[in-house]
Amino acid sequence: MEVIISNTYEELSKAAAAAVAKTLNSKPNAVLGLATGSSPLGLYKEMIRMHKEEGFDFSHVITFNLDEYVGLKPDHPQSYRSFMHENLFNHINIAPQNIHLPGATTGNYRAFCESYEKMIADCGGIDLQVLGIGSDGHIGFNEPTSSLGSRTRIKTLTQQTIDDNARFFKDGEKVPIYAITMGVGTILEAKKIILLANGEAKAEAVAGAIEGPVTSMCTASALQLHKQVNFYLDRAAASKLKMREYFEWIQAKMPHGAA
Ligand code: GLP
Repeated sequence: MEVIISNTYEELSKAAAAAVAKTLNSKPNAVLGLATGSSPLGLYKEMIRMHKEEGFDFSHVITFNLDEYVGLKPDHPQSYRSFMHENLFNHINIAPQNIHLPGATTGNYRAFCESYEKMIADCGGIDLQVLGIGSDGHIGFNEPTSSLGSRTRIKTLTQQTIDDNARFFKDGEKVPIYAITMGVGTILEAKKIILLANGEAKAEAVAGAIEGPVTSMCTASALQLHKQVNFYLDRAAASKLKMREYFEWIQAKMPHGAA
C-alpha cells in the first residue's frame, strides 16, 4: 500500500492522472475501472487535458464503471452514464463500443450482473481500478455490511449515502435507493487500484480504510488485502491518519513512489 498526500486537490488529481498514464503507456489497450462522484473529477479533467494538449490516445482503452443507480433512464442528468459522458467520454477519443456501464433499466438484473462480470473477465480483467470513497467508507456502492467477497449485484443504499448524494439531485427530486454495483470481491480482482479522497468529510472513512480493522463495516478496508493499492489524499482527507507522518516521511524520501 502507498499513501500519497498532496497539498491541493489539483496536485492529488495530477498524481492520480500520472498513475493512469503510466498504466496506459505500458498497455494502450488497458482495461480501466472507473468511478463517479466529485472525487475523480480533477483526474478526469487532467485526462481530458492530456488528450487535448498532448494528444494522449485513449482509442484502445476499455472501461467498466463501478456502479449505476437503478431506475434512472440512461439519459437522466444524474445517471452515472450521463456523468461519465459529460465529464470524460465526450472529451477524449475513447471508442463508444469500449465503454461499459451497469444497465440500470434492464428487466433482469441478476442476468445483467452476471453478464457484466463475464464481460470484465472476457476483457482480461481490470488493469487499473479508480475508486472514490463514501463518507461511510463504501467503495462503489458497497455499503457497510456488504460481503467482502461480494460480486456485481443490486444494493440498497444507506440513508447516509442517499443524503450525501442528494446534493446532485434537484430539490424535491427523489434520490434512487437502489444501485447496481461491482462487488468488493470484483474490485479486489483489479490488478492495481487507486483510491482518491479529498476534504475533511472523508478523513474518518480514509482512516478506517487504511488503518482500521478489515471489516465489512468499512468496505474500503478490504483494500488492505490487495497487493497494489495507492491512496491519493489531500491534507484534510489524511488528517485522521495515525501514521500520517510516516507516510509523509516515505514520500519525502521517495517522491516518485516506492513501487
Ligand atoms: C457514490 C459512488 C462512489 C463514490 C462516492 C463518493 O456513492 N457510488 O463510487 O466514491 O459516491 O462520492 P464523492 O466523490 O462525490 O464524495
